[in-house]
Amino acid sequence: MAEKKVIAVLGATGAQGGGVVRAILADPDGGFAARAITRDPSSEAAQALAAGAEVVAADVDDEASLERAFAGAYGAFCVTFFWAHFSPEAELEQAGKMARAAKAAGLEHVIWSTLEDTREFIPLSDDRMPTLGGRYKVPHYDAKGEANHLFTDAGVPTTFLQTAFYWENFIYFGMGPARGEDGSLSLTFPTGTGRIAGIAAQDIGASAYGIFKVGAPLIGKTVSIAGEHLTGEQMAAAFSETLGEPVAFNAVTPDAYRGFGFPGAEDLGNMFQFTTEFEEQYCGVRDLEETRKLHPGLQTFRQWLEENGTRVPVAPAG
Ligand SMILES: NC(=O)c1ccc[n+]([C@@H]2O[C@H](COP(=O)([O-])OP(=O)(O)OC[C@H]3O[C@@H](n4cnc5c(N)ncnc54)[C@H](OP(=O)(O)O)[C@@H]3O)[C@@H](O)[C@H]2O)c1
Repeated sequence: MAEKKVIAVLGATGAQGGGVVRAILADPDGGFAARAITRDPSSEAAQALAAGAEVVAADVDDEASLERAFAGAYGAFCVTFFWAHFSPEAELEQAGKMARAAKAAGLEHVIWSTLEDTREFIPLSDDRMPTLGGRYKVPHYDAKGEANHLFTDAGVPTTFLQTAFYWENFIYFGMGPARGEDGSLSLTFPTGTGRIAGIAAQDIGASAYGIFKVGAPLIGKTVSIAGEHLTGEQMAAAFSETLGEPVAFNAVTPDAYRGFGFPGAEDLGNMFQFTTEFEEQYCGVRDLEETRKLHPGLQTFRQWLEENGTRVPVAPAG
């Protein structure tokens, strides 16, 4: 049998990269092998991958470590970790290091997990939403989009994977239904009647694996994915069924959401305003059938809820 093509996976112990590793391991005859990159190969999460994947150490802040981790591989899945530091500048620097390391290692196919540079839709001079950090509208989107050219400029054969809102945010990011003082449940987003393109985090990695399998025809292309496009009202209705009690949709304004005060509230308020005001383009490019072609097991929100609904914490009043 031909030698397997090694995919070096950043964030392998996390949501996106973990999905890539699991997809490769679930397809032993697919011709690919997973090299899981972690800062700490001795951690429990890394050890759990070691049964099927090669596990190597690297840090996205250390270019030489990335070069070592990419050496001899066919491809790499590259992702940055905005919520670990809240710094778009750090993402740009890290993406540059990934791109240079990928070039040095002679990788044949890199997937860069990216998002729209929203400044191409809403220039900084447009005051419908505040400019953040002096040069961003949606910092955790803009820097990823801005970083696209670093891969192209370095001459790395890259597919630009535009991801979507993870439904896991309902579990880990406190975005799920909350109980009000009157005891009733509501789901709060500043999206009005707009649809949110969402996806099970696991399906991002599985779609990325689909891209590696397609290979050359997707190099230089942007692939945008989602599991479903749903309004806040529709997600609240699905939660009502899962939880067995009514969940109302609480549509607040983007300004109100930006003012909620939790870390990242302004960034996310701007993000939801962007995805709502540019819904046709945002959902339009995230074609569900195209995503399903890459990953036939793509979950709908209700399927995701069936499996994960009991893990969604319901925040108490106050
Ligand atoms: N939440 C959403 O809805 C959403 C939607 C679209 C895109 N995104 C983007 O997704 C990105 C995060 O991806 P994710 O959710 O897969 O992350 P994650 O689940 O938080 O996983 C991060 C993993 O990356 C590793 N890591 C962290 N810092 C590292 C470093 N300096 N060097 C090497 N590895 C490091 C950690 O592994 P070790 O500890 O093992 O090293 C960790 O397990 C963010 O940039 C975010 O903007 C999020």
